[in-house]
Amino acid sequence: MVSRVIPVDPFDLVIFGATGDLARRKILPGLFRRYCAGQMPEEARIIGAARSEMDDDGFRDLVREAVRKFGGGRDCSDEALEGFLAHVGYEHVDAMGEGGWETLKARLRDGMVRAFYFSVAPSLFGALAERLRGFGLADDDSRVVVEKPFGKDLASARALNSTLAEHFDETQIYRIDHYLGKETVQNLMAVRFGNMLFEPLWNAQFVDHIQITVAETVDVSGRGAYYDKSGAMRDMVQNHLMQLLCLIAMEPPARFEPDSVRDEKLKVIRALDPVDYHHIVRGQYIADEKQPGYRSHVEDPRSTTESFVAMKISISNWRWAGTPFYLRTGKALKSQASEIAVVFKDAPHSIFGPEAGRHANVLVIRLQPNEGMTLGVTIKEPGPGGMRLKDVALDMSFADALGPDAEDIPDAYERLIMDVIRGNQTLFMRGDEVEAAWTWTDPIIEGWQRRGEVPKEYDAGSSGPDDALMLMHRDGRKWRDIKA
Ligand SMILES: NC(=O)c1ccc[n+]([C@@H]2O[C@H](COP(=O)([O-])OP(=O)(O)OC[C@H]3O[C@@H](n4cnc5c(N)ncnc54)[C@H](OP(=O)(O)O)[C@@H]3O)[C@@H](O)[C@H]2O)c1
Repeated sequence: MVSRVIPVDPFDLVIFGATGDLARRKILPGLFRRYCAGQMPEEARIIGAARSEMDDDGFRDLVREAVRKFGGGRDCSDEALEGFLAHVGYEHVDAMGEGGWETLKARLRDGMVRAFYFSVAPSLFGALAERLRGFGLADDDSRVVVEKPFGKDLASARALNSTLAEHFDETQIYRIDHYLGKETVQNLMAVRFGNMLFEPLWNAQFVDHIQITVAETVDVSGRGAYYDKSGAMRDMVQNHLMQLLCLIAMEPPARFEPDSVRDEKLKVIRALDPVDYHHIVRGQYIADEKQPGYRSHVEDPRSTTESFVAMKISISNWRWAGTPFYLRTGKALKSQASEIAVVFKDAPHSIFGPEAGRHANVLVIRLQPNEGMTLGVTIKEPGPGGMRLKDVALDMSFADALGPDAEDIPDAYERLIMDVIRGNQTLFMRGDEVEAAWTWTDPIIEGWQRRGEVPKEYDAGSSGPDDALMLMHRDGRKWRDIKA
């Protein structure tokens, strides 16, 4: 059995923005699945809040529809859904207004964990925090959960941090990066710090380079206006890829505890060198005969926002000096695939002679699809004909290794919301971490703007611009194929 479900303490969870896309697609179905798994105690209450006027039953209809559309779990029945809905209510509240707060407060009970999920635009975080304190809904034990994007640059992230800090202590603030809630991402820590095998080799002496790829097939249609103001650097690199980089590069924390882990991640971000602009490739997908390109999707024929980024990064510390990290992410690529590949150095001397070729071990951690790990090892090609070497994969997929239990693994949002109720901040970003990430990202974006840089074109359905291939070819290295 992989998941030993331990019920969390009784809670009141208020979701601001409960009628929105994120709540309907992720938060509410996720909570339902935790209910089905037996993790939600009988006393738990979920209160939706938004400006739309509706009563409890109206909101229950919305939740019922959301769960049916976006998925219950393996053990979720119609009866379970009705049972879950008995825990759900709604209050009509405007984050910017004064009405509804007293009624919402009257719904909250003493002696429960109290959490407030801000699933609304970041421009409302300040108003919400102020009213939660002002109307006495939140106290020093309450928790607030805030969604990405956490700022669009260092200045805005600092402003958000200081607004939240006026009303809440850092120990009460849970900044979500849902990548950290993914089972395989947590597995990165298990692989690194639960095995003796890898740690002695996990450094510049033995690792040639590391590739981190988060490739998406989806384009930006439907969210073009939002995306065009952001771009791949802000939308993916500053948060998700940075978190993966930290987990793969950090020193072993003394304990698996929030500040131990987050201190080590922060040290990695602070050790990042500024990126030479020759070491970054920005891309934008173009139209083909079948589909429109990026600029049509964002309805701006002159947009210079990137839908793809590839970069070479170096970390100035004892462990990693001399080992480059190559990151790439993009939309409208040929496959949906997220993985981290640790490419080890060749053996220092081949006893088999030059005809045996060069062989390097590669550890690939697949985040999606088909989560699992592959370790490339070199063996002898069977049969006569001398010592011919061949690389083969020791391949482990979670689904095969864990059997049907793998289906019960909570998705990222489920896991993270339960962590909020448990009061465990390990998988949430601390304010200084977010600011450090922007401190590193801002000069890159400013450089593009200063130089008036236009992204390189790439075909939708490809691996990205040719220049991204060159980024590695120049170093005598090669990207792994993006394949699902
Ligand atoms: N959607 C995603 O996949 C996703 C992924 C990652 C992060 N996020 C982040 O999550 C947050 C929510 O995104 P979303 O996609 O769910 O947005 P959305 O679909 O536009 O929903 C916004 C929600 O906020 C409510 N709202 C708006 N103004 C309000 C006000 N003055 N007072 C109270 N409630 C108000 C809306 O309901 P009413 O209009 O009824 O008030 C609605 O429930 C954003 O910060 C977004 O960046 C979203």
